[in-house]
Amino acid sequence: MGKRNIVLIGFMGVGKGALAREIVRHEPALYALDTDDMIESLTNTKIKKIFATAGEAAFRALEQKTADWLAENVTNAVISTGGGFYKVDNLKAIGTVVYLQADFNWIVERILGAHNAKKKLKKRPLFQDLEKAKKLFDERYEAYEKVADIVVDVSKGDLETIAEELLKEV
Ligand code: S3P
Repeated sequence: MGKRNIVLIGFMGVGKGALAREIVRHEPALYALDTDDMIESLTNTKIKKIFATAGEAAFRALEQKTADWLAENVTNAVISTGGGFYKVDNLKAIGTVVYLQADFNWIVERILGAHNAKKKLKKRPLFQDLEKAKKLFDERYEAYEKVADIVVDVSKGDLETIAEELLKEV
């Protein structure tokens, strides 16, 4: 690929971070970044705490600031994003947008069935109530697809194969 970045979007728990790391393992010229991690280091505050104290709107503003900085400064990266990051107004200016798709039950199983389920839940304020999470999933489902350049069904196939296939496409 050229200088463009790969931007991984999709719902919480779909495996954006895991796929980013797998892609970098296959393509060492790329560097893995994660927007939630960037926001945590920028503010020196955990996402959970930002939601609890500053509120969701403040978090979304931090996502936009992160998007602006990435679009301006970063190349050759694979960027995993928070589940709501797709709403920034310049997503396509950052890079090729790849939507990681899976159905809601697959996602629930991946989060709640994980050996570290407690930790996975703890850092996701919007996944505390299953009904609310499902509602959010239904609201976002089409929007993710609409903004994506490439759609990948992550429930079919292992991470390694998905990473290899994706690298051929971008
Ligand atoms: C959010 C997803 C989270 C995190 C924040 C909000 C969302 O990231 O950015 O809790 O709006 O879906 P993950 O998708 O990595 O869980």
